[in-house]
Amino acid sequence: MKSITERWSAATLADLPVIAQALLAQLPAGAVVGLDGPMGVGKTTLVQAMAQALNISERVNSPTFNLLHDYTSGTRPVLHVDLYRLGPEDSARVADELFDWMDSYPDGLTLIEWAEYGLAENNPWLAPALTHQVALHCNAQDVRELTLYDLKLFADAG
Ligand SMILES: Nc1ncnc2c1ncn2[C@@H]1O[C@H](COP(=O)(O)OP(=O)(O)O)[C@@H](O)[C@H]1O
Ligand SMILES: [Mg+2]
Repeated sequence: MKSITERWSAATLADLPVIAQALLAQLPAGAVVGLDGPMGVGKTTLVQAMAQALNISERVNSPTFNLLHDYTSGTRPVLHVDLYRLGPEDSARVADELFDWMDSYPDGLTLIEWAEYGLAENNPWLAPALTHQVALHCNAQDVRELTLYDLKLFADAG
């Protein structure tokens, strides 16, 4: 069951630092967050804003080659994953690396672009791990709308 936790609007890049702080406040230790939305909507930019809010000193780019990149210089460890280029032969390695990282950093934060590629019907290896979703959408006025969903709210209570 998924439930809306909070919603924000970003008219410009200048709105992102405050949104990143508010979003981080909603994400508990060990959260695994799928960032969903089309190419260019601002998924990587949001990860960069969250990294800045956590005082991560390294430059954050899309982990295009390895598909995963972690940042441990800030106030919370972050694993940034981008599954856009995930091939069928990669999913076992990526799943291993992701779950190993979560074991090593139980208070870490995992942020996953194109999480839907880990949720294919025939191999939804990511499904049990995902705790939250941030849906990004660019409206007709060119305002980015971000909606946070908690994916475990009711599952855990039951
Ligand atoms: N909130 C925002 N307001 C204005 N421009 C934004 C915002 N978020 C992202 N952008 C711009 O959109 C472009 C694509 O963003 P990016 O984060 O690479 O998208 P994605 O990772 O979803 O493909 C970048 O040039 C970025 O500066
Ligand atoms: Mg991206």
